[in-house]
Amino acid sequence: MTTPPVALTIAGSDSGAGAGIQADLKAMSALGVFATTVVTAVTAQNTAGVTAVHPVPTDVVDAQISAVLDDFAVRSVKTGMLATTATVRLVADRAAAGDLPALVVDPVMVASTGRRLLDDDAVVAYRERLAPHALLVTPNLFEAAILAGVEPNEGDDVEAMVDLATRIHGLGPTWVLVKGGHLPGVHSTDTRPAPERVADVLFDGTDVTVLEQDRVDTRNNHGTGCSLAAATAALLASGLDVPTAVGRAKEFVHQALVGAAGWDLGRGHGPLDPFGWSRD
Ligand SMILES: Nc1ncnc2c1ncn2[C@@H]1O[C@H](COP(=O)(O)OP(=O)(O)OP(=O)(O)O)[C@@H](O)[C@H]1O
Ligand SMILES: [Mg+2]
Repeated sequence: MTTPPVALTIAGSDSGAGAGIQADLKAMSALGVFATTVVTAVTAQNTAGVTAVHPVPTDVVDAQISAVLDDFAVRSVKTGMLATTATVRLVADRAAAGDLPALVVDPVMVASTGRRLLDDDAVVAYRERLAPHALLVTPNLFEAAILAGVEPNEGDDVEAMVDLATRIHGLGPTWVLVKGGHLPGVHSTDTRPAPERVADVLFDGTDVTVLEQDRVDTRNNHGTGCSLAAATAALLASGLDVPTAVGRAKEFVHQALVGAAGWDLGRGHGPLDPFGWSRD
C-alpha cells in the first residue's frame, strides 16, 4: 500500500475551468499530488469574463474543510478566491488552530482586469488574521499594493516589488512572493513596451531572490496565478522547501504558458496547458 501526497485547495469554481479550483486540481494532478477541493464560491465564468458569483455559505465551507481533514493526511493547503469576509475569517481561524499545514495564500482580491473582488473588511481580515499564518503569500502587483497599504502602480519595477514584499512580510507570513505578471508590457493587453523577461520577487525577511523567466507572448494566460500557487502547494506536499517549490512551480507555469500559446480555446484569455499536451 502506498499513499500519494495529498494537498488541499480552498477556492472558487471557474465554469470555464481555466482558473480557480479547476486550475488547482489540474496543476496538482499534473505534479503527481492527490488534490482535495473545498469550494468557496461558484462563478459563472469563461475566457472572456465573470458573469455571476455565488458564494457558498461559510458553514458549508467549514464542513468541507472538516470532511477533507477528517479523512486525509493533508500535507499542504492553498487558498484562492475566498469570496466573503466571513470565509476569510473562517480560514484564518482554522489556520490559527493549526489545521492548515504549509499554507500558501494566493490573496485573490483583484482580477487581472484590475477589478476589486473583495471589500475593505475582507482586506483587513487578510492582513490581520490570515497573512500571519501563511507559509507563503503570493500577491500579484495590485494585491501586493493593497496588502502593503500603498497606492497601486508603485510596484512598477523590481526595486518597488522588493519594497512591497518587505512591507507584506511585516504582516507575519514566513515567505512572500510578489508576482510580476502585471509589470509594464507583460500582459498581452498592455500596450507599453514588452520586456523580454518577467520577474517575481521572493522574500523571507532576510534574503531577496529575483526569479526571472522569458516572457511568453500570448493571450492564453487565464489562471497563471492560481496554477502557480497550486503547483507550489503541490510541490510542498511532495516535500520540497519553499524556494525550491516556488522555482519549480514557476517553471511549470512557464511550460504551461508555452504549451497553450498556440491554442484556440475560447474567445478571450484562453487556459494553460498543465499536462504538457503540446510538448514535442
Ligand atoms: N506572459 C508571461 N510570460 C511568462 N510568465 C508569466 C507571464 N504572465 C505571467 N507570468 C508568470 O505567471 C505567474 C502569475 O503571475 P501574475 O502576476 O499574472 O498573477 P495573477 O495576476 O495572480 O494571475 P491571475 O490573473 O491568474 O490571477 C507569475 O510567476 C508570473 O511571473
Ligand atoms: Mg491572481
